[in-house]
Amino acid sequence: MNTALNHTSMKVNPDMPVAVAEGSGDLESPTHEAGEMACSHHEPADESILLEQLDDLLPEYVQKPGGLIPALQVCQSMFGYLPQEALKRISEAFGKSYSEVTGVVSFYSFFSVVPRGKHLIRVCLGTACYVRGGKEVLQALKKDTGIDVGETTEDRLFSLDAGRCFGACGLAPAVLVDENMHKRVNASKTASILENYRTSEGGKSHGDG
Ligand code: FES
Repeated sequence: MNTALNHTSMKVNPDMPVAVAEGSGDLESPTHEAGEMACSHHEPADESILLEQLDDLLPEYVQKPGGLIPALQVCQSMFGYLPQEALKRISEAFGKSYSEVTGVVSFYSFFSVVPRGKHLIRVCLGTACYVRGGKEVLQALKKDTGIDVGETTEDRLFSLDAGRCFGACGLAPAVLVDENMHKRVNASKTASILENYRTSEGGKSHGDG
């Protein structure tokens, strides 16, 4: 269950599906509209304008079988999360109750009902990483960012999350920032890793390959 619905900090999940078949958990190809609207690292925008855009988009999704989840995905791409007002409009457009829609949102941890940061930091707490200091790395990142797991910094630059095994056990502890893998991280390295993201808009060059 996605606990993001129950607290104000951000619930994040980097295993972002481009589309999820409603009720099945299967992945589907992204819709054309989703691709056009997707902007996972957007700046805070005027939500009233985005709500108008959402209203314009929804009729098309309503007509599609299983259109609810793609509509939620597009909405999240637009806002960076799923605001309450947007969920209300989606529930009205689909003729579903608000609780029905939030139930779907809760089911998929990909969805977030609170704003997410520009960069998602995931600390591996899988066995290999844990025994090699993953927990200490996580503590250091909490200190560096001033946030806890599931939260987003006030400037919306970073969100912090924990995961289990990123497939880099031989180079543990591993930290993923967005899609960039940082290997053999220790608590003394975390500040400089974050600093790179603060000072640069670059992407893959941040990682360790
Ligand atoms: S346990 Fe951390 S990468 Fe496998």
